[in-house]
Amino acid sequence: MPYSIEPFISEEDIQTKVRQLASEINDHYDGQPIVVLGILKGSFMFLSDLVKHLNMPLEIEFMSISSYGDDMESSGKLRIELDVRKSIAGKRVLLVEDLIDTGNSLFTNLETLRAKNPLSLDVVTLLSKNKRREKDVNITFNGFTIENKFVVGYGMDYAEKHRNLPHIGVVSFSNE
Ligand code: IMP
Ligand code: MG
Repeated sequence: MPYSIEPFISEEDIQTKVRQLASEINDHYDGQPIVVLGILKGSFMFLSDLVKHLNMPLEIEFMSISSYGDDMESSGKLRIELDVRKSIAGKRVLLVEDLIDTGNSLFTNLETLRAKNPLSLDVVTLLSKNKRREKDVNITFNGFTIENKFVVGYGMDYAEKHRNLPHIGVVSFSNE
């Protein structure tokens, strides 16, 4: 189906928000060391901008989970495609997400991570579709709350495309 991408959140607005979130995170941890754990692939761009503004000693780890295929709806099932390679036991972990939609992926992933006994486990997400939530997940730091739109860019994809856009756009289908 043909579609276009309409501008939604500008590069400048994203960067302002990233600096605000970093400042909240710096205040929260107050210089204590953390593990920044990015959920691939969607969070790669957000994480790389965010860590530039963090001031505590930190390690960067990634894991990859998938629930989506090329679809626009969460399948509810979670597959760990790449697990955290280092032990997070006894460490302060900050999970970095691109977007929390139904909350199903995050809910399951938090359970998996809690079983690894981190000292603390917090979540930062750039975007949240609050009205779509099916699971009660606690988001420590939230960037933008958005309506139910399908967004791409700044790490996020539609069928693996458009992750490289420096801004966030909304996918609009021509028959809408
Ligand atoms: P959830 O399990 O429904 O919360 O789905 C969360 C994941 O689905 C996000 O981390 C994204 O990777 C993906 N996702 C949800 N909504 C969108 C969207 O609008 N654009 C791109 N990816 C999305
Ligand atoms: Mg994701």
